[in-house]
Amino acid sequence: MQNNNYKLHFIGAGNIANAMISGLIKSGFPSSNIYAYDKDPVKTTVLVKELNINSHEELDFLDEGFVFICVKPVDYPKLFEDIKEKIGKGVSVLSCMAGISLDRIEKDFEENICLRFMPNMLIENSSGFIALTSKSKKLVKDCSNIFSKVADIKEIPEEMFDVITATAGSGPAWIYSYINSLVKAGCKSGLKEEESKAIVLSLLKGASKKLTQETDLNILIQQVASPGGTTEAGLKIIEEENVDKIISDVISIATQRSKELRKGSS
Ligand SMILES: NC(=O)c1ccc[n+]([C@@H]2O[C@H](COP(=O)([O-])OP(=O)(O)OC[C@H]3O[C@@H](n4cnc5c(N)ncnc54)[C@H](OP(=O)(O)O)[C@@H]3O)[C@@H](O)[C@H]2O)c1
Repeated sequence: MQNNNYKLHFIGAGNIANAMISGLIKSGFPSSNIYAYDKDPVKTTVLVKELNINSHEELDFLDEGFVFICVKPVDYPKLFEDIKEKIGKGVSVLSCMAGISLDRIEKDFEENICLRFMPNMLIENSSGFIALTSKSKKLVKDCSNIFSKVADIKEIPEEMFDVITATAGSGPAWIYSYINSLVKAGCKSGLKEEESKAIVLSLLKGASKKLTQETDLNILIQQVASPGGTTEAGLKIIEEENVDKIISDVISIATQRSKELRKGSS
């Protein structure tokens, strides 16, 4: 159950912080308990105005609540220098940065309880996925409470975080990219862009719904592919061009990139 009494401080008011804050507010979390801070005061102001949250113009000393570190991994060392004297013992530190290990966060914030999590942008519309890991059972419980209405939450061992980052974190982009290819293919074969988009979006809605009833993907594919028909002809190309391998390479390279970021940051 969502606990609305927590005070949440988001540092780095970019894409993922926006998605988390919007999702939480839409799900009923009080905007008055949410604070945002970005090195660019314009970004903070926009977010504050749009979502009616509070801003930290300068990051003040915090002695309680939850700090969410939402900056790019490359910006983390500088951010840490800026905030290390401002995070009191009572603060829980949660990082969603790709490739920055929990160990690193714990070493930096040695007096705080820490958690690493990997959300995705779908959290904005209460259909996100969050993988999380922490040594603190209490913080796992608190974080699960905070996001219970906006994401499916799973505690996952940290060694799986590179692949989780590549599949769940980056995942919306793989789906959008596939949708984009379908839309473009429809246009190339004569549909107007808006017609092609409407068809593909309708397909996506219907297929997502169907997947809540039947999860065996081979069965679902077979149901559409009558022998000698159009679908079978298209599936043959998917097989011949080895689309499985292309997708597998996409996940491998993204997983590899997450590992590189982790190595570069430790
Ligand atoms: N986007 C996703 O789908 C996603 C999903 C899962 C995890 N993540 C993780 O979330 C983190 C943020 O990603 P994002 O896509 O939200 O990036 P983003 O849109 O670039 O947002 C990061 C924000 O932090 C600001 N920032 C940089 N240094 C700062 C500092 N010292 N103090 C305060 N603010 C600072 C940036 O400002 P400038 O732009 O001016 O540098 C930017 O506004 C990354 O570590 C990423 O791995 C992202």
